[in-house]
Amino acid sequence: MVASLVAPSTAPLRPRSTRLRWVSLPWTATLTDGTTAVVRGAAGYDADDLAAMIGRCSPRVLHERFLVPVEHVPLPLLADLLSTEVTFVARDPAGRTVALANIAAEDPRTAEVALLVEDACVGRGLEAAMLAHCVASAHLLGYRAVVQRALPDTLWPLRVLGRLGQVRVGHASSGVRVARLVLTETVMTAARGALRAA
Ligand SMILES: CC(C)(COP(=O)(O)OP(=O)(O)OC[C@H]1O[C@@H](n2cnc3c(N)ncnc32)[C@H](O)[C@@H]1OP(=O)(O)O)[C@@H](O)C(=O)NCCC(=O)NCCS
Repeated sequence: MVASLVAPSTAPLRPRSTRLRWVSLPWTATLTDGTTAVVRGAAGYDADDLAAMIGRCSPRVLHERFLVPVEHVPLPLLADLLSTEVTFVARDPAGRTVALANIAAEDPRTAEVALLVEDACVGRGLEAAMLAHCVASAHLLGYRAVVQRALPDTLWPLRVLGRLGQVRVGHASSGVRVARLVLTETVMTAARGALRAA
């Protein structure tokens, strides 16, 4: 658990670079099956492990994450995934990378968050834990809202965001659904609560 995420009220007084370092610190999530995963800021040296994880993902899961059918992730896309404003990876107790979370600026006040959990690890609460962490991190970095995208026929991934507060779901011209959550104090209290529980 990163203390600064639990009580971020003093953080806006700190330089943005310091806040970025804080959000990248490792923390341990306890999953619903009792196992743990270490979540930390990603770096270029995670590329091979991330490529291996993506290689274990089903086409359906990759389609849901990238919103277009994807057979394999080329090196430039892999590099992009590791260089969004904040990138988190989660590693299982065996040291395998099993999940990825990205935060990227949609506009100066809004961050897009996107998650990918490999098939073998779904349903253990990784999204719930990492999404709360992403929302807390986005707030710490000064964003006022977050958006998350999903395929039109796969709205359930947006449910987890909706547990933190009232989301407004619109759609892009492609039909992709865009859920928007304004980071009110109530939402941040919910996100910190979810982090404490993880
Ligand atoms: C969406 C995704 C991140 C969920 O990860 P996860 O770690 O399995 O999520 P959690 O275990 O925290 O579960 C979150 C909720 O989704 C539900 N869920 C998980 N897999 C599901 C599935 N295949 N169908 C319907 N609901 C599902 C869980 O039951 C849980 O809901 P609950 O708390 O009401 O029971 C993961 O499946 C994934 O990477 N999908 C592809 C990419 C994607 O859709 N990303 C989200 C948009 S960016």
